[in-house]
Amino acid sequence: MAPLTDTLARPIRDLRISVTDRCNFRCTYCMPREVFGHGFQFLAREELLSFEEIQRLAGLFVRAGVTKIRITGGEPLVRRDVERLIGMLSDLRGDGLADLTLTTNGSLLPAKAARLRDAGLDRITVSLDSLDDTVFQAMNDVRFPVARVLAGIDAAQAAGLPVKVNTVVQRGVNEGSVADIAGHFRGTGIIVRFIEYMDVGTTNGWRLDDVVPADEILERIGERWPLEPLDQNYPGEVATRYRYADGGGEVGVIASVTRPFCGGCTRARLSAEGELYTCLFAARGADLRAPLRAGASDDELAGRLAAIWGRRADRYSEIRGSQTENLPRVEMSHIGG
Ligand SMILES: C[S@@+](CC[C@H](N)C(=O)[O-])C[C@H]1O[C@@H](n2cnc3c(N)ncnc32)[C@H](O)[C@@H]1O
Ligand code: SF4
Repeated sequence: MAPLTDTLARPIRDLRISVTDRCNFRCTYCMPREVFGHGFQFLAREELLSFEEIQRLAGLFVRAGVTKIRITGGEPLVRRDVERLIGMLSDLRGDGLADLTLTTNGSLLPAKAARLRDAGLDRITVSLDSLDDTVFQAMNDVRFPVARVLAGIDAAQAAGLPVKVNTVVQRGVNEGSVADIAGHFRGTGIIVRFIEYMDVGTTNGWRLDDVVPADEILERIGERWPLEPLDQNYPGEVATRYRYADGGGEVGVIASVTRPFCGGCTRARLSAEGELYTCLFAARGADLRAPLRAGASDDELAGRLAAIWGRRADRYSEIRGSQTENLPRVEMSHIGG
């Protein structure tokens, strides 16, 4: 069956599923302690979709055209037995799922990597913003050491999971770490993707001045190791790819602020309590949990999904500016990036 398409002819291809709004880090750009510290109301257990509910909804998305699923959060590995969910989602391959992956801060990977692989995870992305402990610990704000994230990456590789690294770059915080990270992973087969700091949510106090543009990130790397552009792997790929001219491998930038890619965006997001978001910068999602728990049939739920995607017109990053400044926006920890 042809995938669902929206008002701008964008097909539904990727689904990000947040399995928890909780996290064991307090990254200052995502869950600042002043807001997400003591007293913050996280979702109660019964508000979260169960694994069975997630599997049922994910099946409908796959039958609507989704071929790639990414599990995220909050920190997905703090959700108990998340590997059981991976196994359940892996069963959707017969329906058209081709790629099952997960994004993590890496802290729990030494304990979980092999179980995730055995359950059917295809690959994994680990976030790491600096190799300098002072910088990294200031960013994660829970004094988590770099060495333990690197141990998580090693564990994933030892379990046979291909690894990518995500690095968010923030002006005045970690732009000095860009070349170090690139240098560390050059030649290892691990692709690093540098991400422009985005105005997701409203709690991180984002300002345009805090963004290090992709061009500058590339210059910082290119002046040490010359880079050459590569073609997209597939339409709608969010990272722009480069290779080291000397054969040291590949690196990418995700420039959602300076080079918005709304035109090719094929991504849907499901929050931990079952709201469907059609844009990372949306204020609200559509509730799928209520009809699910009220006993809606698969056909009814699929119809709701088709209606929501069919009227999708979001292109926030392309119109970012004075029009978008004061709009309400969902928090990153709620829908998982
Ligand atoms: C919200 S986290 C969830 C998964 C997991 N806890 C992790 O950190 O990888 C997903 C990704 O979003 C990135 N992220 C969070 N806030 C961001 C922001 N304001 N701009 C750009 N990327 C952001 C994180 O660095 C991470 O790579
Ligand atoms: S970026 Fe990931 S690790 Fe950091 S606070 Fe957000 S959810 Fe947690």
